[in-house]
Amino acid sequence: PHSPPDFSESLAALRAKSPVLTESSKPPLGVVLGSGLGGLADAIESPTVIPYGEIPGLAASTAAGHRGEFIVGHLASRPIIAMAGRLHVYEGHSLPDVTRPVALMAGIGISELVVSCAAGGLNPGFSVGDLVLLDEHSSWLDGKLGAPPTLFQAAECPAPEQASATGWFRRHLSTCDPQLDQIAHQTARKHGFRLRRGMYLAVSGPNYETRAECRMMRGLGADLVGMSTVPEILCASSAGVRTLGISVVTNLALPDAPVTADHADVLEVCERAANRLQQIVRAIATHGA
Ligand code: 6GU
Repeated sequence: PHSPPDFSESLAALRAKSPVLTESSKPPLGVVLGSGLGGLADAIESPTVIPYGEIPGLAASTAAGHRGEFIVGHLASRPIIAMAGRLHVYEGHSLPDVTRPVALMAGIGISELVVSCAAGGLNPGFSVGDLVLLDEHSSWLDGKLGAPPTLFQAAECPAPEQASATGWFRRHLSTCDPQLDQIAHQTARKHGFRLRRGMYLAVSGPNYETRAECRMMRGLGADLVGMSTVPEILCASSAGVRTLGISVVTNLALPDAPVTADHADVLEVCERAANRLQQIVRAIATHGA
């Protein structure tokens, strides 16, 4: 049977490799950079790169367009830790493994987390390239997030009294932090780009949806479909971290769309959206916490 390594050992290893995060008086901002969105990592000043493989207990990322490392440094004078590349259920990882890097960021003391991802647009009002704030979500990923030990141990660090509320039976009312939502919208207005809102449905993939599935998902109220993000948001918010999820619509998952998505197109659209995402993250680094 799978026995996960001790969480405190992983946390100690990450702390030891990223002193900038623990020496600063400001709490760090956390960011998860999705498919093709890793470019934001290049904006991080005096970066320290920590491959997941150097942290005991973390699995390496293998998906195309995903690098699999923490980038630690500063952005807009705020300490920041970014995940360049995430782990996916479709790579064969369990949910506790997928959320472990996020639990570690919570353990290291991030006060906010911005989670970005590529997604298919189910809402016919969306266009390819749109940024969408995830104001609601649902997960069709099987299995438990793994409250004990991963979530519980992460939750212990920022707010012990919240740990008992991180169990399996908790209903997450809202994971979209209102202040971060407001900063994101102000940034979009200031820079003149469109920011939509939507409900994100997480599925395991890795195949994209059939036309029948697109119809069903839309009928159930989903605006976006993707293969990540929800477990990470739940893990962080359970640990008391304020979260904001943002998708880039990389293709339209409409039943009558003539062409199906291709992973290379997805990466290309994300590269074009990366600037706008970076403006939002920069504004949150400046005005958050
Ligand atoms: Cl169309 N479906 C899923 N499941 N994930 C995606 C996607 C579509 N486009 C980008 N990511």
